[in-house]
Amino acid sequence: MNYSRRNFLKAAGSGVALTALGGGSMLAAVASPAPGLPVPMTKEKAIFILNGKPLVAEYEARTTLWEVIAVKLGLTGTTRSCNRASCGACSVLIDGTPFYSCHTLAMEAAGKKIFTIEGLGDEKNLHPLQKVGYLYMAADCGFCTAGWSVTAKALLDKNQNPSEDEVRSALAGHICRCAAYPAIVRTVMDTGAVLRGEAEV
Ligand code: FES
Ligand code: FES
Repeated sequence: MNYSRRNFLKAAGSGVALTALGGGSMLAAVASPAPGLPVPMTKEKAIFILNGKPLVAEYEARTTLWEVIAVKLGLTGTTRSCNRASCGACSVLIDGTPFYSCHTLAMEAAGKKIFTIEGLGDEKNLHPLQKVGYLYMAADCGFCTAGWSVTAKALLDKNQNPSEDEVRSALAGHICRCAAYPAIVRTVMDTGAVLRGEAEV
């Protein structure tokens, strides 16, 4: 007998199969999972109002909002980084409030207004946040950019003249691995000045 990890796994696998076969009909076992075993996920279908457009997606109960936005609906601007509700890269707005889309279930956002970085502006029509951010080089690698940009928009929608403390507090849930924090904070404050009509960009 060759004692190897591969043979051990093979033996363990046949043990499982024999246990299952020896316990009665396989068909009956599939139709009625033993208590405590996970039951198959059910599929849901819902409308997601993404940047003003109603889009239909099918998803399982466990599917996150990020998976619906980026994988199922193809809006890949929202970055998923830590995937554990720590960094803020995946932030989107739901009815105007920032949420980590990696830790929000799709079903929680179904039927609500979702705002992503694609809704902010594009190459031909940049939002002032993007123009000012470009001037101050507020994006280095860019991994955090989509997240803090939508959070900053939510702040500026409510308050076009935030103090530095208010900006730092609003963006507290965002980690920038490139440490571009001074440029990011200045971008949000100076964008406020543009939106108030006190500066041009
Ligand atoms: S990827 Fe969602 S918080 Fe980091
Ligand atoms: S610019 Fe690189 S993580 Fe923020």
